[in-house]
Amino acid sequence: MTDKPFDIYSVLKEETKKRCTIVNIETQASQFTPVKSEQFLLLKEVSSIDFSIYFRIENYAIEYIKKDELCAKYLDEIWSSFTKSKRPTDICILKSDFDLFQRVISEAQVKKINALVTKHPELDKKVLASFLDLNGASQLIVKGGINQQTANKVRSRVSEMIQNVMNNDKTLATISKMITIDPTLYDHSTSVSMFASMIAGNCITSPLPKDQVELIGEAGLYHDVGKFRIPNEILNKPGKFTPEEFEIMKKHTVYGKEELDKIIAEGVDINPLISTIACEHHEKMNGKGYPYQKKGKAEDNPEEGIHLYSRIMSIADIYSALLMKRVYKNAFTPQDAIKIMTKSASEDLDVPIFTSFVDKLLKSFDSIPETKQQR
Ligand SMILES: [Fe+2]
Ligand SMILES: [Fe+2]
Repeated sequence: MTDKPFDIYSVLKEETKKRCTIVNIETQASQFTPVKSEQFLLLKEVSSIDFSIYFRIENYAIEYIKKDELCAKYLDEIWSSFTKSKRPTDICILKSDFDLFQRVISEAQVKKINALVTKHPELDKKVLASFLDLNGASQLIVKGGINQQTANKVRSRVSEMIQNVMNNDKTLATISKMITIDPTLYDHSTSVSMFASMIAGNCITSPLPKDQVELIGEAGLYHDVGKFRIPNEILNKPGKFTPEEFEIMKKHTVYGKEELDKIIAEGVDINPLISTIACEHHEKMNGKGYPYQKKGKAEDNPEEGIHLYSRIMSIADIYSALLMKRVYKNAFTPQDAIKIMTKSASEDLDVPIFTSFVDKLLKSFDSIPETKQQR
């Protein structure tokens, strides 16, 4: 028995069929680019747009919000369909509209950052500006989006970010606090990139050279790239995973490595270590991580151990994820995130690096007076 071909008209509401243009994009899929969830949600802060937002199901793109039709109702409808769909879906825009989209998003972010700094003058404005710049590069790393141009942009933005924030005591606390106060500004890969760079630059006994710190910063932006191959209903599930779903979710590590290796083989200049980090960032020191249950340090056991850079990424990734608010969980405060990580640090993490990170983090909070009073 063969599957019936997908009939989009049978799944759409009458109102949508009447209101929206529906295009079969089988031959023009490359003209579209998906939008990151965090950035889509930021559109709630925007009053108007000068491009269309499409909802893609299988090979069809529904022009769901046309120019000047932006409203909370349509945004909610897209989000609800996107998170519930059992079929391959994307929220996307035309690639030719990417710059318009980026402009609208960065205007919304700047507005939010300005409001944040007015309310919390203890936060470092330069650090927040670096976060936004890097966030623009993070958006480029989406499905099918990595080419030499993307890789170059990622590299130069990471390098600028490191130059701007590395020697600033307030960096770790400013990013942590921004995420806690305004979750709509959160971007996982951007924050992981910044935390990982700070760890690489400040928390290793024998300091890494600048180009290696930059490599780790780049890897922060790429580390979860394999998630584009995980179905949206799992990726955006508003609750805990079933064991089966978790098995699928774990594959983003191997998918990330496959994707990066493919791009590198095609000639894009990305350091192969970035692919190793994408693969190993969920491994644990006690061998109970995934995907390959690697154990200990690669310096001690090159075959079965975890690379130093992956151990750095793991700390940045877990800390960032704990600060993140999700539909099903509240964000943890930085202090609670540290407590949670400390409990299992001897099992999961590279302890000396983690201890040094906690030390730098607490010092960073001490450099922000208002936070000091709350501790
Ligand atoms: Fe991950
Ligand atoms: Fe991650």
